[in-house]
Amino acid sequence: MTDTSASLESLYPLDRQRLPAHVAIIMDGNGRWAQRRGLSRVRGHAAGAESVRAVVRQARKIGISYLTLYAFSEENWQRPSTEIRALMALLTRYLHRELKEMQDNRIAFRAIGNLSRLPVEVQRELAKTEAATAEGTEMVLTLALSYGARSEIVAAARALAREVEAGRLRPEDIDQARFARHLFTVDLPDPDLLIRTSGEFRLSNFLLWQSAYTELYFTPTLWPDFREEEFVKAVWEYQQRDRRFGLTQEQIRQTGIANPRR
Ligand code: IPE
Ligand code: IPE
Ligand code: MG
Repeated sequence: MTDTSASLESLYPLDRQRLPAHVAIIMDGNGRWAQRRGLSRVRGHAAGAESVRAVVRQARKIGISYLTLYAFSEENWQRPSTEIRALMALLTRYLHRELKEMQDNRIAFRAIGNLSRLPVEVQRELAKTEAATAEGTEMVLTLALSYGARSEIVAAARALAREVEAGRLRPEDIDQARFARHLFTVDLPDPDLLIRTSGEFRLSNFLLWQSAYTELYFTPTLWPDFREEEFVKAVWEYQQRDRRFGLTQEQIRQTGIANPRR
């Protein structure tokens, strides 16, 4: 184990002062991974769960504060019911199996998305895991489940409209900060780095509002093959980027605003 960490560190030396605070991942390619091996899609999802475990560990080890994983989109409800059932079973098993490790590593678990659509047993397991890890101070692990960014934005607009209707809010008092407080991600900083696996170059309805200035990283690696080394490589690659937020390089140097640690 120590050998692997040492070689990883020399392959991709990370600057601990400039780590991305929040890394988000679109975990894609489980089906193709399985198909290439003549296995069922479900076997691909099971292998993907091992990548989740590896990446969570690695993120915690490096010192990432927030890790957000897109596990199931609102659109994914249209998949065959057998696949959905298998995914839900895998999720429940994962939460059960990883609880102790999350607690030992002081990881706080959270779930975001339209959770009421999930089977009640899954909702119960999610709530249980959140409560049992609430004391976690080292990393926030957020799972996006039954999540869709457009629905999230519409729900925020609706909530604000209700406040206006009730006379508690004036339309001119709606600004970006107030809007963002109605999103699922209210307690999270915007992602600094967003990774998508499997060679697709799209966001598939993930964190559309929050990723306005996020650095995007695409890799052809399928999610079940995305493990510690690929994760460190993505963070390293992020550290080679120049973030400017619409400013000039000069301004960035003066203000230090591009320091992703903020
Ligand atoms: C990602 O893998 C997992 C989920 C969307 C639940 P896919 O199941 O989308 O795998 P591909 O894209 O078909 O290979
Ligand atoms: C995005 O993957 C959703 C998750 C990884 C959970 P999809 O496989 O659903 O996305 P598309 O259909 O390729 O855009
Ligand atoms: Mg896919």
